[in-house]
Amino acid sequence: MAEVVLKDVVKNYGAMFAVNNVSFTVADGEFVALVGPSGCGKTTTLNLIAGLIPMSGGDIHIGDRLVNDLDPKDRDIAMVFQNYALYPNKTVFNNLAFPLQMRKLPRAEIDKKVQSAAKVLDITHLLERKPRELSGGQQQRVALGRALVRDPRAFLMDEPLSNLDAKLRVQMRSELKRFHQDLHATVVYVTHDQLEAVTMADKMAVMNGGFLQQYDTPANVFANPINTFVASFVGSPAMSLIPLEVASNGTQTVLQSSEGWELPLSPINARKALAASTKKVVLGARHSTLKLAKSAVPGSVPGKVYTVEPTGDITFAQVFISGAVVNISLEPSVAIRPDEMVFVEFDQERIHLFDGETTMALTL
Ligand SMILES: Nc1ncnc2c1ncn2[C@@H]1O[C@H](COP(=O)(O)OP(=O)(O)O)[C@@H](O)[C@H]1O
Ligand SMILES: [Mg+2]
Repeated sequence: MAEVVLKDVVKNYGAMFAVNNVSFTVADGEFVALVGPSGCGKTTTLNLIAGLIPMSGGDIHIGDRLVNDLDPKDRDIAMVFQNYALYPNKTVFNNLAFPLQMRKLPRAEIDKKVQSAAKVLDITHLLERKPRELSGGQQQRVALGRALVRDPRAFLMDEPLSNLDAKLRVQMRSELKRFHQDLHATVVYVTHDQLEAVTMADKMAVMNGGFLQQYDTPANVFANPINTFVASFVGSPAMSLIPLEVASNGTQTVLQSSEGWELPLSPINARKALAASTKKVVLGARHSTLKLAKSAVPGSVPGKVYTVEPTGDITFAQVFISGAVVNISLEPSVAIRPDEMVFVEFDQERIHLFDGETTMALTL
């Protein structure tokens, strides 16, 4: 396997920049998820790595080779697509063997590679079957096997699980992760599902509008989202964001709502808020860091319950605070109902502050 390096990669269609100056390095053996909403440039980025479309600018290295001008077949990469594109009339064995037969490898070698890939993917017992005799998950493994026999330098996968039903998707998620761990494979994996990225990837590249927003481990992206876009994209339910204004009440720095209330900030948060480019500051908080109170307590602000959604172990409430919808997770035993007036308590050590003008996280 090999590392994959993108440097200032650009792809434009006229004035439309599908990929805009994207740079990141996938280390040898790393699993990287390209994630972001539909149309943000994930597939285009993957296709540029594969060489399926020409770049408008920048460099791509795979291993020690600059591949800008190499054909897809010469890049030694394996692609796994959403539809597995298995040959329906060939057995699983022949589906795996086909790319090797095309390369005119000796029969004994083909046999050895197919058996070894089948063993890794636990499909040895399926080798004589036809694709239609397999479950969706098994077909997925055959598609992976066909990529694997080619000994690629990297695997490129574009939403490979999106055709599967919810339960199988969760199961295949674990299998793909296992596949990656066992093979120490370099994987670039495209998904619009942030949960897939968070659960499987060593690093995630969050994209929006052709731009790379943040490239880091899922834990770091979750803990320190770089701007309000990333904050609201990663996590389920998303981080809640409340646009407010920073002000002083004479003794303390506070966040002020147009509804008339003030939230005093800790000294550290006050310094962050005062570093904003204007008075506009966005207060961010994840559902699990918020507490609900029936009456005003220090550090709490008033809100009105919008919806209450029990899910079993956790109940999610949506509360309107200063015009924004705020998600809060509660013990199922907490009794609240829509339209009730409540108080929401913020934890000063776990809130996030963003510049209301630039959307960037405010840090010290
Ligand atoms: N051949 C093309 N011509 C013009 N625009 C394209 C072409 N291919 C993709 N785009 C545009 O580039 C953007 C990124 O597309 P894509 O990479 O497929 O997004 P994603 O995979 O993240 O959903 C989209 O706005 C899409 O419409
Ligand atoms: Mg796509």
